[in-house]
Amino acid sequence: MSSFDERAAQWDKNRRRQEVARAVAEFIKPYLRGGEGVLDFGCGTGLVSYNLLPLPKKIVGVDSSAKMREVFNNKSPDPTTIYALPEIPDEEFDLIVTSMTLHHIEDIETLAGLFRSHLTPGGLLAIADLLPEDGTFHDHGNEGVFHFGFNPSELTRTFGKEGFRQIALSSPYTIRKERGNYPLFTLILQRERNPHSK
Ligand SMILES: C[S@@+](CC[C@H](N)C(=O)[O-])C[C@H]1O[C@@H](n2cnc3c(N)ncnc32)[C@H](O)[C@@H]1O
Repeated sequence: MSSFDERAAQWDKNRRRQEVARAVAEFIKPYLRGGEGVLDFGCGTGLVSYNLLPLPKKIVGVDSSAKMREVFNNKSPDPTTIYALPEIPDEEFDLIVTSMTLHHIEDIETLAGLFRSHLTPGGLLAIADLLPEDGTFHDHGNEGVFHFGFNPSELTRTFGKEGFRQIALSSPYTIRKERGNYPLFTLILQRERNPHSK
């Protein structure tokens, strides 16, 4: 059982997590028209993508933790259009959102290509994560943590190699702990419209 499995049942009880998710979702919403198909990568219990409702017509959560998926699926108002899976399905989405998950992914370049291949041309990718931190953010050590936050400009350059361009950047929330303050960023990138270019 992963540490995320162990924490899944209590995940939504944390007020700060709820606030982060709301702040991230509120930043993303003005870029949606309504009716989008959304992929929530590292969805956890769905805190961010559920906060986008009722705008999306469909939400597919993807998470490696079975217990997180279980909580996500138990909250679904319509399991035919809002559900969580262990892997990204073979389809395209209008928006991919990933919040507080990228620092758990070792190979960001490969992920950028994967996201590109699952986005419609002109589709949006919203990344929320920590700005560079000193390795003290996580309460229970850094197992499974591959990045101590990100520099959004470097991330934009990495995703730029896969044909993404930046359309918005904000720092919508700062997580305050006794040992320090940890500001977050939300970066919105757009996949280029030309399906033939990279
Ligand atoms: C910090 S939690 C964030 C959850 C949710 N996005 C939120 O904001 O509440 C990170 C999530 O990423 C998931 N995760 C970690 N590595 C993953 C991977 N390689 N593929 C899919 N999900 C992953 C974990 O199981 C966990 O649910």
